[in-house]
Amino acid sequence: MATHVHGQSSALSTATQTIPCIALPEPNLSMEQDAEWCVIREDDGWREIRFHDYGELYTIPGLYERLFYDILKCNSPTMVRKLLEDQLRRVGQPAEGLRVLDVGAGNGMVGEELADLGAQLIVGIDILEEAAEAAKRDRPGIYADYQVLDLTDLASDQRQLLASYRFNCLTCVAALGFGDIPTLAFAEAYNVVADGGWIAFNIKEDFLDDQDPSGFSGLIRRMVAEGLLVLRTQRRYQHRIATNGDPLHYVAVVGTKAGAIPRAWVSA
Ligand SMILES: C[S@@+](CC[C@H](N)C(=O)[O-])C[C@H]1O[C@@H](n2cnc3c(N)ncnc32)[C@H](O)[C@@H]1O
Repeated sequence: MATHVHGQSSALSTATQTIPCIALPEPNLSMEQDAEWCVIREDDGWREIRFHDYGELYTIPGLYERLFYDILKCNSPTMVRKLLEDQLRRVGQPAEGLRVLDVGAGNGMVGEELADLGAQLIVGIDILEEAAEAAKRDRPGIYADYQVLDLTDLASDQRQLLASYRFNCLTCVAALGFGDIPTLAFAEAYNVVADGGWIAFNIKEDFLDDQDPSGFSGLIRRMVAEGLLVLRTQRRYQHRIATNGDPLHYVAVVGTKAGAIPRAWVSA
């Protein structure tokens, strides 16, 4: 039963469309993060949407931002941008030289931060067509290119296209683990960035545990231990709150690439 209603009395409007009224599950109902859901009010009743059904969220302008940023207080794009910006400043490197591959780009929240930072080139990748359409609709002009593709199954022309951008920065925010981006996809994106390039991402803190089944804990540790990733900074912070109000903690990481990830280290 959903009783936790947001925006019922005054539905919010974007330039193009009204954001529907959103209701969250009862606060005493706790669930795994990848099972979370909300209901939205439509003309003919309420419709349930799982948070991980991003395609459904993106088709309604403003819904993703209202749900995750206004109601659930997500601040990950800002946090990852801030840590990257701090490190650039620390070494005296202007953001204007950044050629960024933004993986799991969604509707462009991270792209917007990077553009604000002054990045020279931003290319988005997402597995969903709805994400590319939403980025174009809601943040036109942010991405110089936005590719809908599966990084675990790259065709040679896609590989060549990515290489042609000569990326010197990778961002990946709120997209690792949970059946989203697997280690192979992360490795493909990482390997297309030039050595010395910036790597900025976040990950749920549980996925850095020894028990983590996603493979990221072992992969990141090994990358650092074997000198493929030079850690510059990392910070544990509140990514957002869960539907029951509990804090969800992530770790944001900024480093520089010092070598490619071997294919044998990762899985799809
Ligand atoms: C929580 S959203 C984050 C979007 C954006 N980075 C942000 O911070 O607002 C996760 C995104 O990762 C994308 N994604 C999931 N699996 C993917 C994959 N294998 N390859 C590329 N993108 C993927 C989803 O489609 C979704 O747009």
